[in-house]
Amino acid sequence: MKLLVTGGAGFIGSNFVRQVLAKHPQYSILNLDKLTYSGNLHTLQDVMADPRHTFVRGDICDRRKVQEVLSAGVEAIVHFAAESHVDRSILDSAAFVKTNVLGTQCLLDAARAAGVRRFVLVSTDEVYGSAAPGEKFTEESRLAPNSPYAASKAGADLVARAYFRTYRFPVIITRCTNNYGPYQYPEKFLPLIITRALRGESIPVYGDGQQVRDWIYVTDHCAALDTILHQGREGEIYNLGAGNEWANVEIARRILQLLGKPESLLTYVQDRPGHDRRYALESKKVQRELGWVPETTIEAGLQQMVDWYLANGDWIRRVAARGYRAYYRRQYDRRDATLAGILKSEGRK
Ligand code: NAD
Ligand code: DAU
Repeated sequence: MKLLVTGGAGFIGSNFVRQVLAKHPQYSILNLDKLTYSGNLHTLQDVMADPRHTFVRGDICDRRKVQEVLSAGVEAIVHFAAESHVDRSILDSAAFVKTNVLGTQCLLDAARAAGVRRFVLVSTDEVYGSAAPGEKFTEESRLAPNSPYAASKAGADLVARAYFRTYRFPVIITRCTNNYGPYQYPEKFLPLIITRALRGESIPVYGDGQQVRDWIYVTDHCAALDTILHQGREGEIYNLGAGNEWANVEIARRILQLLGKPESLLTYVQDRPGHDRRYALESKKVQRELGWVPETTIEAGLQQMVDWYLANGDWIRRVAARGYRAYYRRQYDRRDATLAGILKSEGRK
């Protein structure tokens, strides 16, 4: 199979590329990525020389570039490329709407014209909004996104759904919970805890730290996508959760224990505006229809993640040099920072 992966220089996309190359010796991958701040060729170092993997720098909003890539005879697409960080979307949503909504529409249109036979859209559980205590979202739950990021992903999700309904274009949508594991950009909570704790820096816990996320190890998510790519039903949506619900402060404490660092590094700071209290999915459909279940326990996954970050200081230094530290300083090191203040300091308002 000739597969197009978009966003394959980012966290989940790069793990997926690695897994597909290992699992399917006959497959070749075209990897289209714009290399924004979160996409990095250091992340792909071990697969760049593989003749089955071709990296193409390009924007999914660039119709001509997308057509050029598709003309290589792409049979299927797994679409990861996105602006992915909620806090950045709160600071400025423009790039989110452009890449996540318009970029997805551009890709769908070009793929349809090129006769692509399968299109997997990597959506997110955030499209459902915040879950009440005890509630779990099914694939039929209503969409109620709360952040500009989540709204832009819901936009992409609905456009993709419409391409199936209107044109019978073979789209499948996945909605996964919070991923963790190697190569995750250190603005996200778990790698942020590790990288800051290793430097002895304080760790910002938003609000009361009791927000709950369901954590899935990234290779389990990639395995689900591989299964769905091959066996999923066209026009369907699949929720992907791991059943590992943790309050933020609890998972932060666990990581600090693994690192042998003190809990006193945890610092409660101003909450994220519109912060979703809890994410929780019902993923029986994918288990029943396709037999996928996550394999990594949270204990094993956290240990593997911590070990990877300890062994890959060079990767952290290289990606952090590309803007994370400056962004981070602007946003959180000023404890009294308000959203308006941040926008003002960036000259946007
Ligand atoms: P990431 O930010 O690590 O990677 C995104 C990649 O997309 C980067 O390599 C970036 O360079 C690329 N990209 C951004 N804009 C682009 C554009 N216009 N054209 C081409 N490439 C572009 O994100 P991630 O955490 O790996 O997430 C990947 C996908 O999975 C996203 O669609 C995200 O919404 C979804 N998702 C993420 C999670 C999670 O927990 N991280 C959970 C569920 C779904
Ligand atoms: O649920 C899937 C989503 O998970 C994906 O669609 C997103 O792309 C991905 O970024 C992630 O979104 P979250 O907002 O849940 O992830 P983040 O790592 O930013 O935050 C996790 C939780 O930790 C959240 O409740 C906010 C909190 N947090 C985050 C940061 C960065 C803190 O308390 N302090 C922090 O510094």
